[in-house]
Amino acid sequence: MRIELLLGDITDLDVDCIVNAARPSLMGGGGVDGAIHKKAGNELAEFCKSLGGCKVGEAKLSSGFNLKSKNIIHTVGPRYLFKKQKEEDDLASCYYQSLLIAKERKFYTLVFPNISTGAYGYPKDLASKIAFNTTSKFLLENDFPRKVIFCCFDTENMELYLEIFKSQLL
Ligand code: APR
Repeated sequence: MRIELLLGDITDLDVDCIVNAARPSLMGGGGVDGAIHKKAGNELAEFCKSLGGCKVGEAKLSSGFNLKSKNIIHTVGPRYLFKKQKEEDDLASCYYQSLLIAKERKFYTLVFPNISTGAYGYPKDLASKIAFNTTSKFLLENDFPRKVIFCCFDTENMELYLEIFKSQLL
């Protein structure tokens, strides 16, 4: 199976690349963004100044600096404001654009947090379906990344993904 689940802290993972649910400035903030910047160190924010920010649905690459992960893909998820289609498209684009960079760089393993489901308020059940559907379609059509891990920080998200996995097996 090229998609796996993990319950834990994404900043602990020794992989090719983790994805950061960033803010448009890329200067760090709270949540997973804050945890990644804290562990990666100040050089990350310094480097991100050269990236010129990031629009919603876009993705940009940096090294991992002091993290175990060799690289970080920074992507900005949509705030959930009930605009329905646009938000769905933007969230799907975060996953797709991150996967595209991982494909181009031939990363073996790419790890996603649950983008937009924290401060940005995206309903976890809707977000997990968008994440899974976008990722599984991409992996069917591309050889890289070889593996995608959804890193859940809470059991609610973990259970939602487990339900999706089960529905795929039936
Ligand atoms: N490892 C893995 N997942 C984490 C971690 C961590 N160390 N810390 C938080 N998370 C999870 C949250 O539990 C949530 O499921 O990441 C998911 C995304 O939540 P947020 O980090 O709040 O990100 P998001 O909803 O996309 O909002 C982004 O919040 O913190 C600010 O600077 C950030 O402005 C940006 C906005």
